[in-house]
Amino acid sequence: QNPAIQPRPPMGFNNWARFMCNLNETLFVKTADAMVSKGLLAAGYDNINLDDCWLKRERNSKGELEWDPDLFPHGLPWLADYLHTRGFKFGIYENAGNMTCGWYPGSQDHEEIDAKTFEKWGVDYLKLDACHMDLQKGRNYYEEFEYRYKLWHKVMDGLKKPFIFSQSAPAYFSPNFHLDQNNTDWYRTMDYVRKNGELARHSDDIKVYSTLANQTFEPGGHWDSMMNNYGMEVRLARYQSCGFYNDPDFLTIDWPDLSLDERKTHFSLWSSFSAPLILSAWIPDLKKEDVEYLTNKEIIAVDQDALCEQATLVSQDGYIDVLTKNLANGDRLLTVLNRGARTNSTTVPLERLGLDAGGSYTARDLWTGKSTPVRRDISVRLKTHQTAIYRISSSAGKMAVTPTGMIFNTFS
Ligand code: GLA
Ligand code: GLA
Repeated sequence: QNPAIQPRPPMGFNNWARFMCNLNETLFVKTADAMVSKGLLAAGYDNINLDDCWLKRERNSKGELEWDPDLFPHGLPWLADYLHTRGFKFGIYENAGNMTCGWYPGSQDHEEIDAKTFEKWGVDYLKLDACHMDLQKGRNYYEEFEYRYKLWHKVMDGLKKPFIFSQSAPAYFSPNFHLDQNNTDWYRTMDYVRKNGELARHSDDIKVYSTLANQTFEPGGHWDSMMNNYGMEVRLARYQSCGFYNDPDFLTIDWPDLSLDERKTHFSLWSSFSAPLILSAWIPDLKKEDVEYLTNKEIIAVDQDALCEQATLVSQDGYIDVLTKNLANGDRLLTVLNRGARTNSTTVPLERLGLDAGGSYTARDLWTGKSTPVRRDISVRLKTHQTAIYRISSSAGKMAVTPTGMIFNTFS
């Protein structure tokens, strides 16, 4: 990674989980306008990313990709300009294999020409997926991935400005996807993508809103899907550093079967991880209550913290998870999640966060904005699937930055 390219986790929008292939120019124009009018751009959500299915089924006679003119009548350079003028960056989707996951032309063996095309169109951000990989020159599956992702990195280095590089390679070797008892290939892939780009999609797709042609919401499974990606993310904390972020996939914030507490939990956990905050939702109709928490300055500051640490799990007892991380100004983060189906209470001793018991601290609840003095421990009562998030500071001044917590490598 190169921290100069993306010094903090990216924030923004992607159509996939909410609309899948039902995308067009109007969707992105209306989304951008609503991001501006609702204050989301001002809060930092400044990437607008197209996912799969934006392109024509065939390359042109020069071997170049073209956008689907029925979906994008003014063309992608026009859209890029529309977004740039308003202060957004423009993201696009391609695939390292020879077809995208939606069976459109992939970039395999067209890396150079595609990079040039995207540069010409004004692309700032590339999500590179990995369906339909052809094995070439005796390379095995793992090696072909490594070859293609490193080649893209090299090709982008030759551009005036490399794209923000979102890499899906690890997701194809993740525990739910790849038969490999020790997950060796998953960790090996994480290790090279960390040096190769800015983001790693490392796990399953967050459950989409609907797979039905008429976009009717399909209830069920969304909380579990979020918890699954949370559990995967927890295992990869050690790879993250400024300029490279583990990506547990989109914030799905207008799913009718996620309660407000669950949506706020989604946001709290992703922010504790310093994960990308990429909204997949119909922004023009976003509820006021959702805009309100998504623009919570103090929680966004946790996500965008200058240390870029991913919170680690320091305990998991019953249905209560406790996570912590260091913050750049010397404060310590405390995040407490109730995974249970009922209200639960817990008391977290400060020692578990690496702080001296008996010191003199202030805990600021970032959801209520209330600050309370604490000495020994913090008691928390949480409704089902609710998350509390605190910033703890020492009344005696800056706390020493110490390695906190242990990283649990399994998750039940
Ligand atoms: C894969 C990715 C998704 C999305 C689709 C598009 O499933 O993981 O995020 O990009 O492909 O086809
Ligand atoms: C999971 C859920 C909890 C609870 C238990 C029951 O952990 O997240 O809410 O329902 O299962 O086994």
